Amino acid sequence: MRLLVCGGAGFIGSTFVRLRLGDQGDAVTVLDKLTYAGRQENLQDVLDRIRFVHGAIEDPLTVADAVDGCDAIVNFAAETHVDRSISGAEAFIATNMQGTHVLLEAARERGLRYVQVSTDEVYGSIESGSFTESSPLIPSSPYSATKAGADLLVASYFHTYRLETVICRGSNNYGPYQHPEKLIPLMILNALAGDPLPVYGDGRNVRNWLYVEDFARGIGHALGLGQPGEAYNCGGPDECENLDAVRRIIELAGANESLIEFVPDRPGHDRRYSLSSEKLRALGWEPRVRFAEGLERTVGWYRDNSWWWDPIRSGAYRDYYERQYGRALGA
Ligand code: NAD
Ligand code: TYD
Repeated sequence: MRLLVCGGAGFIGSTFVRLRLGDQGDAVTVLDKLTYAGRQENLQDVLDRIRFVHGAIEDPLTVADAVDGCDAIVNFAAETHVDRSISGAEAFIATNMQGTHVLLEAARERGLRYVQVSTDEVYGSIESGSFTESSPLIPSSPYSATKAGADLLVASYFHTYRLETVICRGSNNYGPYQHPEKLIPLMILNALAGDPLPVYGDGRNVRNWLYVEDFARGIGHALGLGQPGEAYNCGGPDECENLDAVRRIIELAGANESLIEFVPDRPGHDRRYSLSSEKLRALGWEPRVRFAEGLERTVGWYRDNSWWWDPIRSGAYRDYYERQYGRALGA
């Protein structure tokens, strides 16, 4: 296929690009704004095999240039961090909603297949059991509200214009190249450095962990085999309370539990996410990496690749870290 991968310089998008170049032999154009979260370093091993367009998905002219010659759009581009959306939602609305609209229009004008990469967070929190694709969308944070809004807009383009849309909703991802603002890499890097590990609330929130390569393959299944107009959940094989995840990281990093610091909870913090992935499994997908194995690989990757995270930790991320944690950690 000839794919336009929006947000392909981010964590999951770059994993997807690598997978498609290797497994499927696709021709890939990446369109990415290179925000604080996107870096060409994430694609360094494949940069000479793709077309890279630097720009924003909410800019129709840039999108028109990038999409030229493509037969499908896969949209990863988004503002993705819940805590940042709580501090200010403007960029989330511009990228996640307006940007999705621009991409849908580009797909409609050219009759392209369109895959929207989405999240379990659109369903909100669930105490027990698992969300199916027909569960209502009850998002809690500005981040998840913009992702739910985008999903509804995507669905409307199928119903109204019969655009070939597919939505793939993943649970919490982890693995190489994830920005250190997110729980797993934050805890790994702090544990390796002997810094405090800031756990929100009582640490008993539950997440359904999905290794990034498993999600990338799941999105590939949705792209190749998904029925137009349908959504597909893509959940990880294991769920885990945050505190248990942090303890496992401490063990793998050879750090000490005394580093754990309970800090004030995130406002509106969802207690538990859980996805039923039966519909995607019926297309032949299944997760291959259990949490214990994936976490070991991920800690190993961060330990071996300081070239990748060192510039992030010493750059603008420091200011964010100070604002987000400084007072709570007594720094
Ligand atoms: P990320 O923050 O690592 O990457 C996002 C990418 O989008 C970056 O490369 C960034 O530069 C780019 N981008 C941001 N705004 C843009 C814009 N206006 N125009 C063009 N590019 C822009 O995110 P991620 O974790 O790789 O997530 C990718 C997608 O998967 C997102 O849509 C997210 O909602 C979804 N998702 C993420 C997770 C997770 O656990 N990380 C789980 C389920 C779904
Ligand atoms: P995060 O990686 O931000 O993903 P999401 O909010 O999309 O699930 O957070 C995962 C869980 O970890 C979530 O319950 C919030 C918690 N968390 C902490 O306890 N401390 C932290 O410093 C961060 C970033 C997250």
